[in-house]
Amino acid sequence: MNITHEDRMGGSVHLSEDGKKVIILDQTQLPNRQVYLTLGTAEEIYDAIKVLAVRGAPAIGICAAYGMYVLAEGREKEDADSFYAGLHKDGEYLISSRPTAVNLSWAVKRMLAVADQNKEAGVPEVVRLLGEECIAIHNEDIEMCSRISEYGLSLVKDGDGILTHCNAGPLATSKYGTAIGPMLLGKERGLHFHVFADETRPLLQGARLTSYELYKAGVDVTLICDNMASLVMKNGWVQACFVGCDRIAANGDFANKIGTSGVAILAKHYGIPFYTLGPTSTIDMSCPSGADIRIEERNPDEIKNMWYKEPMALNEVKCFNPAFDVTDHELLTAIVTDQGIIYPPFDVNLKKMFG
Ligand code: MRU
Repeated sequence: MNITHEDRMGGSVHLSEDGKKVIILDQTQLPNRQVYLTLGTAEEIYDAIKVLAVRGAPAIGICAAYGMYVLAEGREKEDADSFYAGLHKDGEYLISSRPTAVNLSWAVKRMLAVADQNKEAGVPEVVRLLGEECIAIHNEDIEMCSRISEYGLSLVKDGDGILTHCNAGPLATSKYGTAIGPMLLGKERGLHFHVFADETRPLLQGARLTSYELYKAGVDVTLICDNMASLVMKNGWVQACFVGCDRIAANGDFANKIGTSGVAILAKHYGIPFYTLGPTSTIDMSCPSGADIRIEERNPDEIKNMWYKEPMALNEVKCFNPAFDVTDHELLTAIVTDQGIIYPPFDVNLKKMFG
């Protein structure tokens, strides 16, 4: 696959022309405004990830990789000791912005490994190599999403109804996306899917981002509230569920946006195949099971206040706001990766492919 500069520019994250800043499309402003943010400091990159201006497991990995390069460039004049100490500190800081998606730490560690393995070459050469590495991470994501989309497309047929949760499209990745990739690729090939997008409380990624991306691409998309998934399944309107993932454990359990495991339980009840689609960078073979995945908890204001003119619950009322949940591998029909489709037993087959 020949990936061009334009392919990278088409995503939600890229490097500025002079290579000194990370540019992101601010996803908090969609679908109403297209606003780009320019990030140059560790704090700006951390905050953009934390507030979900850039979000989706692969996209935050790409953003962090570009961020590490930009920060390394800013330290180019430092002596080797302070360059390396500063770079490692920046890496740890960026990783701490969100704990659940493994792509973030995967990308930062990959950048640090390039720096550490080339110490002998001197700081300016290390900075140049980091520039190549962040572009490689982005290019690989475009390639992986394209392969995932092909594999995913082989699991559905023209006219099928597909339900998705949260947003795992181009905004969350690079080109095509993961869970949404087969729908976009299918559209390009003249297939007609009927997609149900869960609005995805509390941050509404399904409403604000998934229905936006699919509608713009000309895919038939219907937005539903999360609590309507059971009804559309019962009506026979859904032939497959496609969702993304933030971390896949070695036994096939996986973390994804809060509410995903509920969708999987419903799909099992109605006999509908349930797939998660993710790149190699989302598979964490060092994590034995879902019980070992740290789940991010977010500000209760996202439930009570964020989208309303007035608070929708008394100030005194407690809120529990986990950003992700873990879906048991028993509920999963298959894991669609860029390396192929993995069926149960997941522990054995994931080990064969990624062990
Ligand atoms: O909190 P978010 O919006 O970053 O959560 C994103 C998801 O849960 C996605 O489904 C996942 O990152 C996969 S994106 C290809």
